[in-house]
Amino acid sequence: MKEISPADIRVNPFKLFGSDWTLITAGTKKSCNTMTASWGGFGVLWDKNVCFCFVRPVRHTYQFLEKNDRFSLSFFDEKYRSALNYCGSNSGRDTDKIAGSGLTPVEEFGTVYFKEARLVVICEKIYFEDFDPKNFRDPKIAAFYPLKDYHRMYLGGIVTCLAG
Ligand SMILES: Cc1cc2nc3c(=O)[nH]c(=O)nc-3n(C[C@H](O)[C@H](O)[C@H](O)COP(=O)(O)O)c2cc1C
Repeated sequence: MKEISPADIRVNPFKLFGSDWTLITAGTKKSCNTMTASWGGFGVLWDKNVCFCFVRPVRHTYQFLEKNDRFSLSFFDEKYRSALNYCGSNSGRDTDKIAGSGLTPVEEFGTVYFKEARLVVICEKIYFEDFDPKNFRDPKIAAFYPLKDYHRMYLGGIVTCLAG
């Protein structure tokens, strides 16, 4: 993979997150976790190119995002869909997800990503915030939270991007 600038990411973010999905990964090769996510995006904030993603506190990956300063987003070709389905329906709390996914973890840039990815975005946590139901302007949003386990939004400053 070679490093590219965020400005050279030539993909539709709605498709990339919403239909292709991503793996959010944090930790070290010895101790990391990964999970599938389809909510997120890219943008510009303060003086930075950023990405944002949303993780429920119940996810095992949440602990790794909390403990580590960096995380990665790995995006894949369609042939890895089954690995993404696996990482989105099993928890690292009770399974060795990295082994089960069949993907190859790479530790670099202070985090872990996957060798098979076609695009990797390495992020430094710069801000987080938990959704506050008082601010839901559409009452239908509450239906996403029968357990009141509101997502934590992580804003990541983009450190570098890697393209395969
Ligand atoms: C397509 C898809 C998209 C998902 N998107 C998110 C998301 O954006 N945020 C989230 O908290 N969970 C999301 N999930 C659920 C987690 O991936 C799932 O609960 C996973 O098993 C958590 O693993 P962990 O406990 O090892 O962290 C998604 C699952 C799938 C299948």
